Amino acid sequence: GDRPSDSAEFILVIGGLGYIGSHTVLELLREGHNVLIIDNLSNSYESVMHNIQILTASHCKQKGVPVPLLHFHRLDYRSRSMRLLLESYSNLVMTINAAGQQTMTYRSRIVGVIHFAAHKSVVESITTPLQYYQNNVCGLVSLLQTLDQYGIYNFIFSSSATVYGAKANQGLPLREEDLVHHPESYIDKSGHSVVLQPSVTGLSSPYARTKYFAEAILADVAAANPAWRIVALRYFNPVGCDPSGLLGESPRGEATNLYPVLTQVLMGARPRLNVFGSDWATRDGTAIRDFIHVLDVARGHISALAWNDRAKRHDNSFRAFNLGSGNGATVLEAVQSLEAVAGREIPLSWTGRRPGDVGSCVASTERARTELGWSPRENLVQCAADLWNFVRKAGLDSTGKV
Ligand code: NAD
Ligand code: WQD
Repeated sequence: GDRPSDSAEFILVIGGLGYIGSHTVLELLREGHNVLIIDNLSNSYESVMHNIQILTASHCKQKGVPVPLLHFHRLDYRSRSMRLLLESYSNLVMTINAAGQQTMTYRSRIVGVIHFAAHKSVVESITTPLQYYQNNVCGLVSLLQTLDQYGIYNFIFSSSATVYGAKANQGLPLREEDLVHHPESYIDKSGHSVVLQPSVTGLSSPYARTKYFAEAILADVAAANPAWRIVALRYFNPVGCDPSGLLGESPRGEATNLYPVLTQVLMGARPRLNVFGSDWATRDGTAIRDFIHVLDVARGHISALAWNDRAKRHDNSFRAFNLGSGNGATVLEAVQSLEAVAGREIPLSWTGRRPGDVGSCVASTERARTELGWSPRENLVQCAADLWNFVRKAGLDSTGKV
């Protein structure tokens, strides 16, 4: 091409040192993309960078391919310096050839954005909703304005199966068009379910609403300017980790999700798992979830970036896709899969339902399969095996804080 030899195209990954972000960055690098990470480390650690580098180096050495570029800037994506940063990665340079012809080319360029940065605790969002709306919604709006100014339009957003709300309880695979619009309940500070009629979205937590509103904003933005190519990926329950055990889920705060809690139990940092509810209408009474390997989720982002690049072949400048396995497993089956790889029993304590929980939540994978050409490769057994590697690795150098 006509680019100077030092030109480079980057995928900007915001929140790229977190659980799903770090695995996606790793997959991007393995596929040969250059990556620019922005993360303020509010829920992650800089050491993740180092582990990504180790894994990328060994992959590239094994394949005999050059190591792509990986840049990291510790930054709140809402800060003013985002503009300066985008500016410095959108360098237009003028070159004049021997015949005196001038051409403008990019020295470097951001060709796609994956936006993971958000607060993600359902419980915390009930007590500090403004903090959640600020980071997950206001931040997104400003980001989109900034990207628009720099002409960066290929955008992938982290949404969640939580946008389906109580629709999940119908027990059918959730299709992308199945959103609820009827009034439902809110959870108050003390964890009680309060019916407020009419509720705007029919969803039960501020966190869920941040994702719902974000999708609505993205759809409006795309409708107003079809230059945008926007995909919202609705993750079901991402679990597991890279088989190396070098990357994993290491939240800074208290673990509340099933697998991080199970990880702590396996590491001896918690005595047992409290099972929330044994009276759901399922095969063993515990709730059903659609667990999906985090590397499958990661690959979904690369499929989505490519789908956006094929823009001319479809009309949708905004589209939502489920990333789930399509298979439901109960909480008890998840526990058993880990017991099998760990070779020991996980102590359980049977407690009541957690407020706001649904009994079943499983994806329809049809749209992602047919349109993105994405399908999951791993299963629950692999998730358990990979997580066990992480537990053993982390156990060597920690006190049980994962
Ligand atoms: P995570 O907390 O591990 O990763 C988020 C990363 O973003 C962290 O590294 C954090 O430090 C960073 N971050 C947060 N706010 C920031 C800001 N203002 N500026 C810069 N960096 C910031 O979470 P995750 O599990 O990897 O989730 C990623 C995304 O996927 C989130 O948007 C989350 O809501 C969504 N999601 C997660 C799940 C899940 O089960 N993990 C399910 C559905 C959706
Ligand atoms: C799974 C199952 C619990 C912990 C939430 C969000 C969703 C997404 C993922 C971010 C449930 C049970 C859990 C424990 C238990 N997050 N459980 N004991 O609730 O499906 O989804 O996290 O976007 O948006 O809503 O995930 O891992 O918390 O729970 O029995 O200590 O495990 O009741 O049935 P959930 P989870």
